[in-house]
Amino acid sequence: MSRPTFYITCAIDYVNAKPHLGHAYEKVTADCIARAHRSLGYDVFFLIGNDEHGTKVAKSARAAGKPPREYVDGMELEFREAYRRLNVSYDDFIRTCQTRHHVGVHELLRRVQQNGHITRGKYTGWYCEGCEAFYTEKDLVDGLCPDHATKPRWVEEDNYFFKLSAFRDRLVDHIRSNPDFIRPEPRRNEVLSFLERGLEDLSISRAGGEWGIPFPGDPDHVVYVWFDALTNYLTGIGFGDDEGEFSKWWPADVHIVGKDITRFHCVIWPAMLMAAGLELPKSVFGHGFIYQSGTKMSKSLGNIVNPLDVIDTTGSDPLRYFLIREITYGKDGDFSWESFISRYNADLANDLGNLVKRTVDMTFKFLGGEIAEGNGTGRTGLRNVAEDVASRVGQAYRRLDLSGALVITWELVRRANRAIQETKPWELAKDPARRDELTGTLGELLEALRIVSYLVEPAIPEKAIGIRRRLGLPEDPGGLWDEALAWREATGWKVAPSEPLFPRIDASPDTAAAGRPAKDGSGRAPGEAEPDREEDLIELADFERVKLVVGTILSAEPVRGADRLLELQIDTGDDRRRVVAGIAAHFAPEELKGRQVVLVANLKPARIRDIESRGMILVAQADGRMTLLGPGEEIAAGARIR
Ligand code: MSP
Repeated sequence: MSRPTFYITCAIDYVNAKPHLGHAYEKVTADCIARAHRSLGYDVFFLIGNDEHGTKVAKSARAAGKPPREYVDGMELEFREAYRRLNVSYDDFIRTCQTRHHVGVHELLRRVQQNGHITRGKYTGWYCEGCEAFYTEKDLVDGLCPDHATKPRWVEEDNYFFKLSAFRDRLVDHIRSNPDFIRPEPRRNEVLSFLERGLEDLSISRAGGEWGIPFPGDPDHVVYVWFDALTNYLTGIGFGDDEGEFSKWWPADVHIVGKDITRFHCVIWPAMLMAAGLELPKSVFGHGFIYQSGTKMSKSLGNIVNPLDVIDTTGSDPLRYFLIREITYGKDGDFSWESFISRYNADLANDLGNLVKRTVDMTFKFLGGEIAEGNGTGRTGLRNVAEDVASRVGQAYRRLDLSGALVITWELVRRANRAIQETKPWELAKDPARRDELTGTLGELLEALRIVSYLVEPAIPEKAIGIRRRLGLPEDPGGLWDEALAWREATGWKVAPSEPLFPRIDASPDTAAAGRPAKDGSGRAPGEAEPDREEDLIELADFERVKLVVGTILSAEPVRGADRLLELQIDTGDDRRRVVAGIAAHFAPEELKGRQVVLVANLKPARIRDIESRGMILVAQADGRMTLLGPGEEIAAGARIR
C-alpha cells in the first residue's frame, strides 16, 4: 500500500549575507517536522534552497567584487554547509538561478498570461530593496519602510502587472473556509485584516538590466524577484519539467516561513496559483522570530559569539534542542548563552543524560549488561506512561506543536527518573530473593528509554542514535512509530557503560548571573558536584583501566576554522602523537612547547576537524580559568601515573 505523501518547504534564503541563527531556526524546526512525519509513516519531500536574484543580492555580489553568478555559487556552499552541520535532512536544494527553475517560472507566467491576468502598465511608487517589495504611500510609516525603517526608492517604470486585485474576494473566502490555511491564528488575522484594506495590482517585472530571470518575450525586463522566488515551491518538485513527480507532491502540505513574509505567501502566492489554475497549498505556517539577546559570549564554551559555532563543541543536537524546545512554535523567542546553558544542563545533561547513564550503568553493574529471558516484573508503572506519552507526542508533531512534543516526551523522562528513586534498584540488587523485581525494573527503564529515543529523534537525531547505541540496539530506527512504539520486553539487549550522552556545561560567571543557581531544577548551583550515588561508585579496577602517562608537548598549532581548538604533538615516551585539545581560549600555542601534561593514553582515537586525535590531556578549570595538569617536577615522558 502506498504511503500518504507530505510535502514541506521552507522559505528560500537570500544570499546577500551568510546564514544566521534566524535561518537556522527555520530550517531546524522544519527538519523536525519532516523527520517526525517520516517516522509517522509519510512519504516526505522536504525542500529548501536559495533565493539568488534581485537588487539586494546583486549589490552584495558587487561589494564582493564578483560577477553575480560566481557570487551566488559561492554562497550556495555556505548555506549547504550550515545546514549540513545542523543535520537538516532536506531532500532537495533549489536555486533560483537553475535552469529547471527558469523553465518553471516561464511556464507559470505563460499560464497566468493565457488566463488573462497579466497587463502592461506604468508603475510609479516606492520600492524597498530590503524587502524587495513595492509599497504605496499608505503602506509607509512616516515615509519609511514598515519593516526596515529605511527610505524606499521612488520608481517609475513601464512594467508588466499581475491583476492581483481581482483575487481579493476569492482569497478571503478561501482563508475563512479553511481554518488551517494560515497558521497560527494571529497570522491568519493579520492577513485577513490586510485583505480588508483592499488589494492593488502587482508589478511583476523590473526594467533596467536587473539580475534575474528574463521576462518571457521581453528581454529588457526581468521577472520580479518575489514572483520568481515563490515559484520555487513548484519548480523544486518538477513543475514544467516532470509532471509525474509534480503531481505526486503538489499541493504542498505546509510552507514554513517567517512572520515577516507570511503576507507574500498568503496573498500573492495563492493568487498566482489561482491565476494559473493550480491548487493552493494546504497550509502556510508563519513562525516567529528568534532574537539574540545581549552580545555576551560563552566563556565556558570557549568564547563563542555566533551560536551556530557551538556545534563545533557540542555537536548540533543541543542547539537543535534549544531552538525547538525553548520557543513555542509560532511565537517569538530569545537566544542567550545563559538560557542555552541552563536548558542544556537541566533537560539534556540532568534529566535525559542522567537517566540514560544511571539505567545503563546499573544494568551493567547489577546484571552484567543484559536482561535475561523472562525478565520478571517491575513496579515502575512506566508502561502506561509510555503508551500515553507516545500517542500524545505523535499528535503534537502532527499539529506542529514542536516544543509541546518535547514537553510531553519529558513527562516520560522525568517519570523514569522518579521511578529509579522510588524503586531503588541498588537496594534490590543486594537481595537475591528480589532478583526478578530487579530485572523487571531495569528492563522497564531500558524499554522506556528505547521509546524516548524514538520520540526525541525528530529533534535530536544524533543523540537518539546515541541512546540506542548505549542500549545495544540497532542505530537505525527501522520501521515506523506505530510499530516501534509498542511496548516490548528489553530481553537480549547488551548494554555497556560509555561516556555521558550530554556532559554538563559549566556555567561560568559571565554566562549565568553569579550567585544564582542554574535553572536546572536540581537545586544545585552551577557546577556544584552531584552527591555520589551508590550506582555511580567505581571499583579500583575500573580506574586502573585508564592509562595515564606524562607527555611532553613538542608543538602546538591552531586548528583551522575552530577558534577553540589546538593541535598538539605530544611525546609519550613510546610514540609521538597528535592530540586535539579545546584549550585555545586559555593558552597561546607558543607557551605550550616543552610543557609536561597528564595524558589519557588509551582513549579511543577520535576524528576532530579531520585530524585524528589520540588521547586527551587533563586540565583543571574554575571561574573561567584553566590550568594544565602536569607532574609537578620534570620527569621522563611516558612516566605512568597511578
Ligand atoms: N528570500 C526570501 C524568502 C523567499 S520564499 C519564496 C527571504 N529570505 S531571508 O533570507 O530574508 O529569510 C529566509 C527565512 O528566514 C524567512 O522565512 C525569514 O522569515 C526567516 N528569518 C530571517 N530572520 C529570522 C529570525 N531572526 N528569526 C526567525 N526567522 C527569521 O525572506
